[in-house]
Amino acid sequence: MRYFVFFLLGCWLLSACHQPKPARGMDQKIDSLLALMTLEEKIGQLNLPSAGQFTTGQAQSSDIARKIEQGKVGGLFNIKSVAAIQEMQQLAVEKSRLKIPLLFGMDVIHGYESIFPIPLGLSCTWDMDAIEKSARVAAEEASADGINWTFSPMVDISRDPRWGRISEGSGEDPYLGSEIARAMVRGYQGNDLRLPNTILACTKHYALYGASEAGRDYNTVDMSRHRMYNEYFPPYKAAVEAGSASMMASFNEIDGIPATANQWLLTDVLRKQWGFQGFVVSDYTGVSEMIAHGIGDLKEVSARAVDAGLDMDMVSEGLLTTLAQSVKEGKVTEQQITQACRRILEAKYKLGLFDDPYRYCDQERAKKEVFSAANRAMAREIAAQSFVLLRNEGNMLPLKKQGTIALVGPLANSPVNMTGTWSVAARHAESVSVLQGLQNAVGAQGKIVYAKGANLDADAVLEANATLFGKTLNRDSRSEGTLREEALRVARGADVIVAALGESAEMSGEASSRVNIELPQTQKDLLKALLQTGKPVVLVLFTGRPLVLTWESKNVPAILNVWFGGSEAGDAIADVLFGQVNPSGKLTTTFPQHLGQVPIYYAHKNTGRPLTGPWFTKFQSNYLDVPNEPLYPFGYGLSYTTFVYGDVQLSAAETIASDSITATIEVANTGTYDGAEVVQLYIRDVVASVTRPVKELKGFQKVFLKAGERKTVTFAITARELSFYNANLQWVAEPGQFEVQIGSHSQEVKKAVFTLR
Ligand code: BGC
Repeated sequence: MRYFVFFLLGCWLLSACHQPKPARGMDQKIDSLLALMTLEEKIGQLNLPSAGQFTTGQAQSSDIARKIEQGKVGGLFNIKSVAAIQEMQQLAVEKSRLKIPLLFGMDVIHGYESIFPIPLGLSCTWDMDAIEKSARVAAEEASADGINWTFSPMVDISRDPRWGRISEGSGEDPYLGSEIARAMVRGYQGNDLRLPNTILACTKHYALYGASEAGRDYNTVDMSRHRMYNEYFPPYKAAVEAGSASMMASFNEIDGIPATANQWLLTDVLRKQWGFQGFVVSDYTGVSEMIAHGIGDLKEVSARAVDAGLDMDMVSEGLLTTLAQSVKEGKVTEQQITQACRRILEAKYKLGLFDDPYRYCDQERAKKEVFSAANRAMAREIAAQSFVLLRNEGNMLPLKKQGTIALVGPLANSPVNMTGTWSVAARHAESVSVLQGLQNAVGAQGKIVYAKGANLDADAVLEANATLFGKTLNRDSRSEGTLREEALRVARGADVIVAALGESAEMSGEASSRVNIELPQTQKDLLKALLQTGKPVVLVLFTGRPLVLTWESKNVPAILNVWFGGSEAGDAIADVLFGQVNPSGKLTTTFPQHLGQVPIYYAHKNTGRPLTGPWFTKFQSNYLDVPNEPLYPFGYGLSYTTFVYGDVQLSAAETIASDSITATIEVANTGTYDGAEVVQLYIRDVVASVTRPVKELKGFQKVFLKAGERKTVTFAITARELSFYNANLQWVAEPGQFEVQIGSHSQEVKKAVFTLR
């Protein structure tokens, strides 16, 4: 009997550990369905309208409902709750001729109702298990509430902090970005899409969206293939390799052709080179926006998109309304439409929707699993890991839970701003503010006094534009001077000041680009005034992008960058401020010391005239007015303890491509707190057939060390870590010298060299 149980368990494990290959059954089902479908019904499957929110009962009489009944809708998005989704699904499977179930999509970006840190913050954990778990929880909650498709992960590399959407990605590095892309896809899709708690991932925005000129959203992108393949493509490719079920085409153009109709991108690279098997959806009105791009009218751009390899049209209804005519005119073939339709039906099949279209519609599950205490506890834990300690002069942090703590700043008492951008399903008002978090932590042991001290910005119009979607900061109509005076009165009676300053949640994210990435002046004025009291000041910094903090880095003794930590942000902030959690976050984007340095990133090329002399040296690559160095480099982040690195030891001085070489380094926790350290491996290809960056991240390990403990950290370096795309875009590892650099951030490393024969 016992063996039988083990046998069953074994079978279950085996089946759970492999994505099932539904091929035969799936092909049969879809072939027979396609044989019944009219051209119009096939085109209908390619249509993805935004549902908007209906109260139950209302849906039946809506315009969308009619389209569903007529077989003109393949999926819906922006619709929340089991009841509303069930109602729509019912229309599809009971009223449409072929009863094909709908997909239900949503932007579940960093959590569903239990919100995790914004993706840029999440990336600073460098903890792939934590990131995967956050995506798993997001999928569990979303699927419990009827959703079976998320428009995530967003894997756009960005090196321009002006671009608001830098907050939605994993920073500037292709290696780290690829690891995170894989972890997110695994988290959402699990091992079996048929399980009711897994959902389709949609990797976006394919491609290069993060390189928009001047950091202005939706702007032109123009980039060499060399850079695309080596620096910007890797995370998309990694997501494809991890089995991402869908991809979203980006808004921008590439080589003069918008991604949405770019055949080279959607077919040659994605399908032929990378072997992508899923379906491609446009971004929101991405199809009709090609009219403004200037490449044709709706009929023309829709035909071009399908011809290029686009399968689904989000919102434009260009495919729905023009493709039949384009088939008649020979602009696209019915076969192309059948192919796109097949891919969408395959996704539905893989989700198990043909077996049970209501498998994600379980009211009881929704009540139990969404925003659960366990999920919120995990969100709190991961949020604390995402914070980056930028400065801690004289070990001002951690604080003691005693005396009077003055909490000041526009972000101090705003639950609705804790979740950050793209948290569409969040219960904003139930998020934990900093004020609440500090009160929870200190209890009766001390006193928290609070004053707002400043509005987000003196400019009311800017503030209005940066506090959309209900994420108000409750603008105070009194003058900035009056607010500041009030805060100073509160602060003067305190032992320590915590200033919760920075950006609002919607000051980053889509269409939230900035040309000035400093703290708004009124907040800087407040900070200066607080410092002038002579009291210790801790800056708790909210931001969705790297900011220019040059003045702050010289004048504020302690700076904890908390991004937007999610629904439990306030408690997580208190955990770190009071030392329950030792900060371990490391930056994944470079913080410039001046905006004029942008784009600034650690993996830059050497140039023919690198700065070898002191700054300033004439006729070398540097600026007259600011040094080349960033303010805070990639990989940087302090801890309450100190880590000391030994020397890099290599297992050999030479290796060959089929072999590997081992690099080891000893790391010691020499301080008095237990803590985690992200040990980073960088490699430099010293001489190659094309120019190579001065260093590239090729490995990392997050190790936990008790106070006084030492550990040896080992990295295996194989051909994979040494390879790159050469001038012919071939993936090669070229013989020659390589420099191994290991350390606590990109600018603080120990080095060793070896040769690849
Ligand atoms: C964004 C996408 C998002 C889509 C659907 C677009 O505006 O660019 O990231 O998934 O809207 O909400």
